[in-house]
Amino acid sequence: SLVGSEMCIRDSDGTGRMGDFTEGDSSDRKRKGNGERQKSSCRRIDTGGNNMKVLIVGSGGREHAIAYSCAKSARVDKIYCAPGNAGIGQIAECVPIGAMEFEKLAAFAKEKEIDFTIIGMDDPLVGGVVDVFEAEGLKVFGPRKNAAILEGSKAFSKDLMKKYNIPTAGYENFDDADKALAYLETAKMPIVLKADGLALGKGVLICNTLEEAKAGVKEIMLDKKFGDAGNHMVIEEFMTGREVSVLSFVDGKTIKIMSSAQDHKRAQDGDKGLNTGGMGTFSPSPFYTKEVDEFCKKYVYQATVDAMAAEGRPFVGVIFFGLMLTEDGPKVLEYNARFGDPEAQVVLPRMKNDIIDVMEACVDGRLDEIDLQFEDNAAVCVVLASDGYPVSYEKGKEISGLERFEKEEGYYCFHAGTAWKDGKIVTNGGRVLGVTAKGADLKEARANAYKATEWVEFSNKYMRHDIGKAIDEA
Ligand code: AMP
Ligand code: GLY
Repeated sequence: SLVGSEMCIRDSDGTGRMGDFTEGDSSDRKRKGNGERQKSSCRRIDTGGNNMKVLIVGSGGREHAIAYSCAKSARVDKIYCAPGNAGIGQIAECVPIGAMEFEKLAAFAKEKEIDFTIIGMDDPLVGGVVDVFEAEGLKVFGPRKNAAILEGSKAFSKDLMKKYNIPTAGYENFDDADKALAYLETAKMPIVLKADGLALGKGVLICNTLEEAKAGVKEIMLDKKFGDAGNHMVIEEFMTGREVSVLSFVDGKTIKIMSSAQDHKRAQDGDKGLNTGGMGTFSPSPFYTKEVDEFCKKYVYQATVDAMAAEGRPFVGVIFFGLMLTEDGPKVLEYNARFGDPEAQVVLPRMKNDIIDVMEACVDGRLDEIDLQFEDNAAVCVVLASDGYPVSYEKGKEISGLERFEKEEGYYCFHAGTAWKDGKIVTNGGRVLGVTAKGADLKEARANAYKATEWVEFSNKYMRHDIGKAIDEA
């Protein structure tokens, strides 16, 4: 059967390095749709058609934005989210299954006859949730384990870029702390240390002095500050320049770029404080010029998709290109195998296409047929966090004012960390809400977003006040 033949092109581990790739079938990966639906020339009908039941896996602001787009789709009747949050629960039925409970998720999808599952989060993707769904004949959006390694292993992605001449910072990989320490003695400072595996976006240390760098190697490789992610490490040249996030849809061979965005990773105004999951975003980035776009189309985007296919790891899903615009041209800082959070909150509300049409085209390998379009406007997202994030913070604070968003066109309040408690919506995480607004241009969108941050109240509410400051420098 088709599923049977697919089994042999999957590899069993997500940890492979460039040296031990399994050279699988690099041809267009074929997928089996739901039930008896096979890949066929019958385009729309081959898909789930209409009246679809969709399952979203994840529980953050990104998944809320995905759920919101699904709710807008004329093709979707019912949305489930596992595990979801209080905001997602207003447009979807939340089910108490964790994102890493693959067998339970697949069993739920079978039981409810889900037509299409969207995996929002990185951990289940890197862990192979897509493979589990496919083995059950379920239609699912996201890369398989052997492709999600693009995000799951920094050593893998760096080796891939080197092998296929994709511009990135110079680097060396290490799996031995002594060798890493010896390397540092002759290296130029500042220098960047990266734990190899997933570390919630926190496994990157920028070190200004040799002493700091040595302490960093110790933290990552010996003290295992980021857990097993630190078994291997990348030491990388320090680059300077503006950062841009570019999300894309990929079907294994074709790639379509979404509107650009910029994140604000540090906790405090002026890009001070610790790295976080992201304190706010704006889209599009005025620094993502036509020249940058042309350069990346030539040297980065298709090159990455082709490289993955050539390695027998065809990528289906979203590739997030973290780019740095250096003096020597754009370079790839990192890849993610999913939408950014909070990038999705500013990019998806501006997408004109039906999200299911686009995602299904990815899974079916016919993304070339999609004319991906974005509104000619802008959006800004300001994250409302719990004071103390990302270190320590309190939860369970009642949130008021949320209903205001239902009445205002072009304003969104995506929930990141919220829960229901005694009939009230309360804070339940570091990042609590992503207050997002559109505007005719970036300045208007920013003013709107900050105005809307005042609509919501909870104790210990914390936000940055300079999201989108860079807009003024464009
Ligand atoms: P990453 O998780 O690889 O995107 O790294 C997190 C953040 O660290 C990036 O968004 C950059 O701000 C910074 N960073 C990562 N690599 C470098 C580098 N080679 N040079 C300068 N900054 C970097
Ligand atoms: N906002 C950065 C990320 O999603 O990785």
